[in-house]
Amino acid sequence: MNTEMEKKNSAYAALNYVKEGDVVGLGTGTTVKFFIERLAEEIGQGLSVRCVATSKNTEHMAKSLGIQVFDNVSKIDVDVDGADEIDGNGNMIKGGGGALFREKIVAYNSRKVIIIADSTKLHPEGIGNFGIPVEVNPFLSQNTRYNLERLGGICKFRDEGNFYTDNGNLILDCHFGIISNPVHMEQNIKMIPGVVEVGIFTNLANTLLLGRESNIEVVNFNRKQ
Ligand code: A5P
Repeated sequence: MNTEMEKKNSAYAALNYVKEGDVVGLGTGTTVKFFIERLAEEIGQGLSVRCVATSKNTEHMAKSLGIQVFDNVSKIDVDVDGADEIDGNGNMIKGGGGALFREKIVAYNSRKVIIIADSTKLHPEGIGNFGIPVEVNPFLSQNTRYNLERLGGICKFRDEGNFYTDNGNLILDCHFGIISNPVHMEQNIKMIPGVVEVGIFTNLANTLLLGRESNIEVVNFNRKQ
């Protein structure tokens, strides 16, 4: 399996979802990088779009390629982002790169969310084995960790507490195994004081472009808005 080729095929196919004049959400990660490079080429050839970035890394890359990036836009037409795991219903684990906070805000506010991913990301049996990245405020973060573990998992600070998000917060990587009800789990984790955002994304993906070595598989989900 050629994962790089799968990522490229998936990322390049996402360009078909971008139209002249769109406001585009730029996700974060190694797959999205291929999309941003190709988007910059299209802009160089005359395409006019404005963008919102889900992380400082993405913002830096986009700006270095001449893409206009804004912090406040009234609407986002299409968001293109990656995933760490996705199931057959579009439930996802995100945050492997630590950008889940802005990623979820951008996805929620986007009319259409296109997920680009290599074939290893699809988990029809259910999501969760990757772990659930949870962004937590540093204040009383050991207590937040304890409260998360009371839900039945094991949580470890990313990089032994040395990883800080773009928002100055910590990431707890929490392992609960396969999640039987992602919607409930997302809500239960979000309810814990100190949790800033949880890397379970439900009812946000419209379409998955699953990369294969020589083509892509398009999977549409029933997102209720
Ligand atoms: C960033 O925080 C993540 O949500 C990424 O979107 C996810 O980890 C996918 O990244 P890759 O495309 O690098 O696998």
